[in-house]
Amino acid sequence: MKSAVALSLALAFGAGCGSNDDRTSSRSDDPWAEIAMPRITDENASPNVVEVKLAARPAQKQYPGASALSDVWTYEGTVPGPLIEARRGDDVIVHFSNQLPEATTIHWHGVRVPAGMDGNPMSPGPVPAGGDFDYSFTLKDAGLFWFHPHVRSDVQVERGLYGALLVRGDDEPEADHEHVLVLDDVYVLTDGTFPEFLDDESKMMGREGNTLLVNGVSQPSLPLRAGSLERLRLVNTANGRFFNLALSGQKLRVIGTDGGLLPQPYDADHVLVAPGERYDVMFVVDAAQGTELTLWNDPYDRGHDSGSEPAMAVATFQITDDAPLKGRKLPDAFPEIERLPSAPPDTTLDLSEAFQNGELVFTINGKTFPEVPPIQVSDGAVRVFEVKNSSDMDHPFHLHGFFYQLLATDGVATAPDRLANKDTLIVRAHSAVDLVARFDALGHWMYHCHILEHAEGGMMGEIYVE
Ligand code: C2O
Ligand code: CU
Repeated sequence: MKSAVALSLALAFGAGCGSNDDRTSSRSDDPWAEIAMPRITDENASPNVVEVKLAARPAQKQYPGASALSDVWTYEGTVPGPLIEARRGDDVIVHFSNQLPEATTIHWHGVRVPAGMDGNPMSPGPVPAGGDFDYSFTLKDAGLFWFHPHVRSDVQVERGLYGALLVRGDDEPEADHEHVLVLDDVYVLTDGTFPEFLDDESKMMGREGNTLLVNGVSQPSLPLRAGSLERLRLVNTANGRFFNLALSGQKLRVIGTDGGLLPQPYDADHVLVAPGERYDVMFVVDAAQGTELTLWNDPYDRGHDSGSEPAMAVATFQITDDAPLKGRKLPDAFPEIERLPSAPPDTTLDLSEAFQNGELVFTINGKTFPEVPPIQVSDGAVRVFEVKNSSDMDHPFHLHGFFYQLLATDGVATAPDRLANKDTLIVRAHSAVDLVARFDALGHWMYHCHILEHAEGGMMGEIYVE
């Protein structure tokens, strides 16, 4: 552990750059200040406690191409909200105040919190307008997590309520730079307003915006030094958009996902990130001084004739004139994670879409939330669910409170070297996955599609661990 941190700092100093490991470094050291997210003040002097105040409140934000400020909903006045940073094992205390005109919650997406701290609408229930709630939990896992409301999430998240929670562990790889990229999109009309009504396309596919955002900034232009070792920690907070990312033809090494680092990293040309998912990627900048790399969102067909949109630039990177760094190496392996046992599924969740009383709805086993019967699980049980997608489009399946592992897709076992702890996973149109989880925390937990229009349109259910 110590050596990794020491190496990382040495590398950062050697390269003459700031390091994100230094939580007190000022933002002006950050070569990517353009997309720096505000850092939140830790009000607790104990090194193992992160205690913060977080208010949800209306604010205004200038989006590109809009003639006026947009009315947004924010955590602490910014979109995204402030970055919360901690270490595995830390206690987190969040004094939340709801200064919105309606009820909300904070759901800690991917964080294994006690059920009463999960910020879901069923338990403990919403925080009313003007109300307060103290969230507190201990961070069991290292990784990139995020937080967002779970009441009218399709509307509240779209208006700007989301933020990232970065939890560092003891096995972090060395890198010259590490950055969190919160990916979103927003539909901004030229007068700065957001469209009021959902058209049929947005109801069906989830809202997709006309403006891509990286940490709230549209198409940032960021410096990169040739030869440097970069780590990007990606989260997709969009309602409906999938990001199919490619970096000007360079290979990306995928070193982690929702539940943290992967025992066996792998290389990819594209990293497909569905709403709610996280990916942790590294690369050595393989480009000449003075050139440019682009992070593209390439077309991806997620059903219903999507995927014909042209590639869109998410961000561009300007390769600086600094002498190329030499000898940087990508990590090859990280510590093992426990492999959950394989078994045939005992429960099927069939995801579909339907018209009920002239309304488009999204169903699980033919029912919409809250009519979907809860699944009963005994405390500590390891269960295998088949999640079957009978619809014409992909659904990113999210489970609260637990990680799961993908055992098989359409009957084909997952390659042993692709073991990963996930909490959100794409179930492709007309396909089925077997997921295994250990339900080792009591309480009522939710699962749903993370296309927020689908979740709010019925594709959501509960698991009772008793
Ligand atoms: Cu990120 Cu229940 O959601
Ligand atoms: Cu869906």
